[in-house]
Amino acid sequence: MTTTLIRNGTIATATDLYRGDVLIEGEKISTIGTALTMPADVTIDASGKYVLPGGIDVHTHLDMPFGGTTSADDFESGTIAAAHGGTTSVVDFAIQYRGQTLHHARDAWMGKADGKAAIDYGFHMIVTELDGKVEAEMDALVGQGITSFKLFMAYPGVFMLDDASIFRALLRTRENGGTICMHAENGGVIDVLVQRALAEGHRAPKYHALTRPSRAEGEATHRAIALAEMADVPIYIVHLSAAEALEKVTEARDRGIPAYAETCPQYLFLSYANYEEPGFEGAKYVMSPPLRAAGNEERLWRGLAGNDLQAISTDHCPFCMQGQKELGKDDFSKIPNGAPGIETRMSLVWDGGVRAGRISINRFVELTATSPAKIFGLFPRKGTIAPGSDADIVVFDPEKKVTLTSKTLHMKVDYNPYEGREVTGAAETVLSRGRVVIDRGRFVGKPGAGSFLKRDPRS
Ligand code: URP
Ligand code: ZN
Ligand code: ZN
Repeated sequence: MTTTLIRNGTIATATDLYRGDVLIEGEKISTIGTALTMPADVTIDASGKYVLPGGIDVHTHLDMPFGGTTSADDFESGTIAAAHGGTTSVVDFAIQYRGQTLHHARDAWMGKADGKAAIDYGFHMIVTELDGKVEAEMDALVGQGITSFKLFMAYPGVFMLDDASIFRALLRTRENGGTICMHAENGGVIDVLVQRALAEGHRAPKYHALTRPSRAEGEATHRAIALAEMADVPIYIVHLSAAEALEKVTEARDRGIPAYAETCPQYLFLSYANYEEPGFEGAKYVMSPPLRAAGNEERLWRGLAGNDLQAISTDHCPFCMQGQKELGKDDFSKIPNGAPGIETRMSLVWDGGVRAGRISINRFVELTATSPAKIFGLFPRKGTIAPGSDADIVVFDPEKKVTLTSKTLHMKVDYNPYEGREVTGAAETVLSRGRVVIDRGRFVGKPGAGSFLKRDPRS
């Protein structure tokens, strides 16, 4: 069994910040103390650095067929990129395509990750069709550690479920301890707006945003929470982008309703103005929900600071401009939806959140690791630094300056939405269950070394 001693760092958890050493025995943290002197096979000097729990990204789409193509990162390239950025666990989305069973989807996604993932991975299940059999499969999946289900209120004819099916799924999680994750946009309204825009000859990428108003997200968020309230279960809103949707979450939480929500860096650092970039450049930012008008991001930061938003995930869903985004060159509705972000989350949120004084270091850890671990049944195995927890650790250099560019990032995509942006703060050394996977910026892990995360249901 390998022993590793991380010395002289500042350990940060969601609640504490203190100087200390961390001893790792095998895959687990065994001892935390000051001036630990026991011999170890590997010693890492973390002087001047923070020692953080590995990031947990609970919203990724690796190797996902979508919009006539497949997301550009598979489980190998995507998890290596994640590790470079300081993320040591991902929860990806398996998809039940219509006519297929949930178990078929589980097997398909297990097959995509097995032998490839360099860090640990779990799955949510996207449910696109619901009947009694599927409900029974939901129960079985919860027992197998796939304890959350994403439902769509958008993408009619592809992913969208009607309110009755959504309500049935919510009711089922009351029995089986699963959690419903909701893509909250009013798909019917959006579809009408898209068809009208196309009929009027509007083809440019910016019409993706102009046909998906904030109100459509606000309305769906309100409805999702109302349905969950009637079913008497918690709900988790994914990729919340707009102040108007945040208001609905805040209002529910103020009434004591267990409504949870995540946002993503793109909604904190980019805005509608990006769609106005010349030519077809706006396609880089075509994602759903779309980027919002400037001003929304400060409301989201306030929501993050005040715990109306509980997590920052990435919705990493990369498509290259060449050969993929260009499928929608003449029709914005054919641009594959999604953008890369799995590698840049921790640095962006550190720079724009902690350094800018919007959130504390403890809150940074909570939003990027602890709270996602708690919500999705991984805590205290993951998401904190404590004896007995998995040794998923990031030695984070708060002073390291990095210029974000697709030329040096490891995601397999030919652009970066933050191209040229300088951030301060980056992962230096990263451990996944006690193994060093990133050594001072170099990947030294192994594709296939990541394990499937069997997650706990809600208790
Ligand atoms: O545009 C996005 N978000 N693509 C990924 C699919 C989804 O809805 O999360
Ligand atoms: Zn979604
Ligand atoms: Zn997504």
